[in-house]
Amino acid sequence: MESAIPDRLVLERTEPLRMRSNWSPPSPAFSARFDDHVDTVVMAYLGTQYRGDVAPNSAIDAVNELRELTTRADGPAHRDAARFVDASGYTNDLNVLYWLDLGTYQRWAKENLRWTDPSVHASEDVGFFLEVATPSFDRFETIFGGRKMEGASVLSHGISDEIPEHGYWGSARDRFPVAQTNPLSPNGSLEFARDGDLVVVTPHENMCLIRSGQDWAKTVDEPRERYLGTIEPVLATGMKFLAEEGLEIGCYGNRYVTVVDDDGAELSKSYGTSWWHSLAELEKWSKSHPTHLKIFGTFGQYVHEFGGAVGLRLYHEVTVVEADQARFEYLGCHRQTGLLNAMPSA
Ligand code: HEM
Repeated sequence: MESAIPDRLVLERTEPLRMRSNWSPPSPAFSARFDDHVDTVVMAYLGTQYRGDVAPNSAIDAVNELRELTTRADGPAHRDAARFVDASGYTNDLNVLYWLDLGTYQRWAKENLRWTDPSVHASEDVGFFLEVATPSFDRFETIFGGRKMEGASVLSHGISDEIPEHGYWGSARDRFPVAQTNPLSPNGSLEFARDGDLVVVTPHENMCLIRSGQDWAKTVDEPRERYLGTIEPVLATGMKFLAEEGLEIGCYGNRYVTVVDDDGAELSKSYGTSWWHSLAELEKWSKSHPTHLKIFGTFGQYVHEFGGAVGLRLYHEVTVVEADQARFEYLGCHRQTGLLNAMPSA
């Protein structure tokens, strides 16, 4: 076993470890390992939004252009795509771009990122949103049930040995290097500035982002039926709760998405992704809210009955950003899009 916190980031703790002494986790789990020189992770969520399930030409053109831009100098080292229908009934196409170097991203963005520029993408029938997190590496943690990587961790150089910091509430915090000395308390509030159809949201200190993924491509027969028939509906209910009622418990906005390939075909992969007021509120939801407890419980039964996760691959990446490590812009989007959900009524 080795700690989820890489050696180079180990500090003398001033914040308590949640893990009990002599803790032995019930099953194996791992964290992604990155090269020592990596000091920032960049995750850019770029979305288009429209009514109905057929994308208007302006949305298709924008995504095609974006793909071309990603191939230019300093473009992302990895990207993936996903689709979902939001609580307001709009279809959203997400392109998520990843870099492991802030300067490279900034150079690329300066030359190429006009996603929410009204003079480029003003459209009556399509909304454009951009949510970018650029956490320093000590503000990023991952957990994987197996060796296949997803999200930013596709850019990792491999995986850790089994980690002890999992299988108990509070373990995500124990995996964060920064949380050794920082309680990651939220501070300040979101500020919204509207200019025509564009809303720019200024973040506050220590907002939290999670991408929590499921991959059932390798499940077969009864386990697959059980995942799709028993676990997934419970997951969908939890995701709906966060999207529609999450604001009351600190979740600014949640998306439950299906991963798609470059031709838009749905893969047997999904993830829930949400921005939170704080890590503490995400922790509280996961350990105490009936929706996550039920998700957790149905998964426990599945593992018990089939003697393991049998092809079902789960992972998550969690980030807590400083106020200057995130950027949020919404052009022509409806009121329940991302952080706009938290915008006070005019
Ligand atoms: C932790 C199950 C989806 C948020 C966990 C753990 C399990 C679990 C077993 C404990 C992992 C460990 O420490 O070893 C599941 C299953 C899911 C699912 C089966 C879907 C099929 C989600 C989603 C979110 C989420 C979509 C958020 C949007 C969390 C968080 C933790 C956690 C934040 C860490 C809690 C802590 O460290 O205190 N989940 N989960 N989960 N889950 Fe989920």
